[in-house]
Amino acid sequence: MKRSILIHPDPRLKKVCDPVPDLSDDLRVLADDMLETMYDAPGIGLAAPQIGVLSRLIVLDCSKSDNGEDARPLVMFNPRVIAASEEQNVYEEGCLSIPEQYAEVERPKVVDVEWLDRDGVLRTETFDGLWATCVQHEIDHLDGKLFIDYLKPLRRQMITRKMVKLKKERAREKA
Ligand code: NI
Repeated sequence: MKRSILIHPDPRLKKVCDPVPDLSDDLRVLADDMLETMYDAPGIGLAAPQIGVLSRLIVLDCSKSDNGEDARPLVMFNPRVIAASEEQNVYEEGCLSIPEQYAEVERPKVVDVEWLDRDGVLRTETFDGLWATCVQHEIDHLDGKLFIDYLKPLRRQMITRKMVKLKKERAREKA
């Protein structure tokens, strides 16, 4: 089932999310819903707080597959960066909670991430390039941090004002 994505500013996007204590079928359904919502958007990553669930869960797929054959959907419960390269990388980032706004953000180029997969198995993997940027962006969401928090205050405020306007417009359309 597709879920609706919260748009910034929203207090739920600023919260530190709770660790997932035990995996359950409900949480697996939630993860599947998040993947469906992400692919539909379309996007390459989505964090649970973006659909209003304050749990440490993210999904991502940076395979950029058009036909789905090379798709690599990843579901990560309680993900954390356990090592990061000194070397940095700059990517133009966007966010499904901040539609149509993009900005360059600098982050470690390579990261090792540890997480529980949807079967409850503890996994670690090294991510590079776009995958590294995406996984760090999504984990940030679990700590209430958005990519615009890396920008200078003026730029951030400008984007936030645009989002306030967008939300008003959407609310009016619904009314
Ligand atoms: Ni995002």
